[in-house]
Amino acid sequence: MALLKAWPKSSLNLLVFAVMLSESPEPVNLEPLPRWILMGQNFSLRCQVWGGKPRQNLTMALFRGPQELSRQAVSEQGPGKAAEVTFTATASREDHGVNFSCRAELDLRARGLGLYQKSSAPMELHTFALGTPRLIVPKHLEVGKKETVSCEIDKLFPVENAQIHLSLGGRSLSPTVVRGQDMLRATAIVIIAEGEKEGQRELTCNVTLADHDREVQENLTVYKSRRDPVPIVMGVLLALGLAAMAGAIATLCLWQNLRKGSYQPQTLPLQDRTPMETPETGPKGPSPVASA
Ligand SMILES: *[C@@H]1O[C@H](CO)[C@@H](O)[C@H](O)[C@H]1NC(C)=O
Ligand SMILES: *[C@@H]1O[C@H](CO)[C@@H](O)[C@H](O)[C@H]1NC(C)=O
Ligand SMILES: *[C@@H]1O[C@H](CO)[C@@H](O)[C@H](O)[C@H]1NC(C)=O
Ligand SMILES: *[C@@H]1O[C@H](CO)[C@@H](O)[C@H](O)[C@H]1NC(C)=O
Ligand SMILES: *[C@@H]1O[C@H](CO)[C@@H](O)[C@H](O)[C@H]1NC(C)=O
Repeated sequence: MALLKAWPKSSLNLLVFAVMLSESPEPVNLEPLPRWILMGQNFSLRCQVWGGKPRQNLTMALFRGPQELSRQAVSEQGPGKAAEVTFTATASREDHGVNFSCRAELDLRARGLGLYQKSSAPMELHTFALGTPRLIVPKHLEVGKKETVSCEIDKLFPVENAQIHLSLGGRSLSPTVVRGQDMLRATAIVIIAEGEKEGQRELTCNVTLADHDREVQENLTVYKSRRDPVPIVMGVLLALGLAAMAGAIATLCLWQNLRKGSYQPQTLPLQDRTPMETPETGPKGPSPVASA
């Protein structure tokens, strides 16, 4: 102290400044962060400074762009060590693409000296948000028929950095992608080729952003349409109905003939199967009724 007082102020100024600068070629250092930070997540920014003595007059401030976020005094640390301060902040949308920096300030004005400032190199922050994609798909895919499958994701930021992929049964689809406000939608038309097997196909949608990805899958059932299964059933029912009706008519005619007392089996209208059949075998069906 006695030595300091003995020096002329301007020379001392120069001396302190020289000491600050000479102690390290990079006096203030902001520790690098992961390239992308999830929005809402807390992150720590560690700032180190070499030199800057006396330490009790040293403070460090964290800046977002030109805005000062916080300020801390540097606690006393071992001689020869870098002074270090850790700031904690919560990643927000506003932080995206903004330069953060840290500034060391050695305030010696109380001693009649100056205010010495030194800033770190700026560091650009990248923040992101990534929701969960959801599939909008039919449960079943008919072979040979066009179907639309789509995948949508919201709570997505920044949309321009996101990629969306759709694949079906391990094969990539080429969807049409629509980008909206914080959302992305991929839509593809799929046709299962004739000759492909029936069964389960896994539809996968994955969205990648900022070295992260979100994936969603669903199993779709591929089936071949049975050739008109409904008309077959109806045809059978119709045939049964006709046969029953024919039987009823035949029985009625037979009964009427019996009442008239002129039973002539050969004239029965029921000539089912082959008309070539001999007349004797013709009245097969209603014969038990006739004999009754
Ligand atoms: C982030 O930090 C704030 C205070 O700094 C705290 O209230 C909050 O719970 C923290 N959030 C997480 C996700 O750790
Ligand atoms: C600098 O440190 C000295 C000694 O601790 C203290 O008396 C003085 O108030 C400090 N000045 C500032 C501006 O902090
Ligand atoms: C952030 O800093 C870099 C390097 O100095 C600069 O190129 C860039 O323009 C800055 N970005 C903003 C948003 O100020
Ligand atoms: C997402 O899809 C891309 C392209 O199909 C692929 O390269 C990547 O591995 C997929 N990610 C995951 C987690 O499956
Ligand atoms: C789809 O089916 C396969 C095999 O049957 C099964 O391993 C897989 O977990 C299923 N995936 C989903 C999303 O249900």
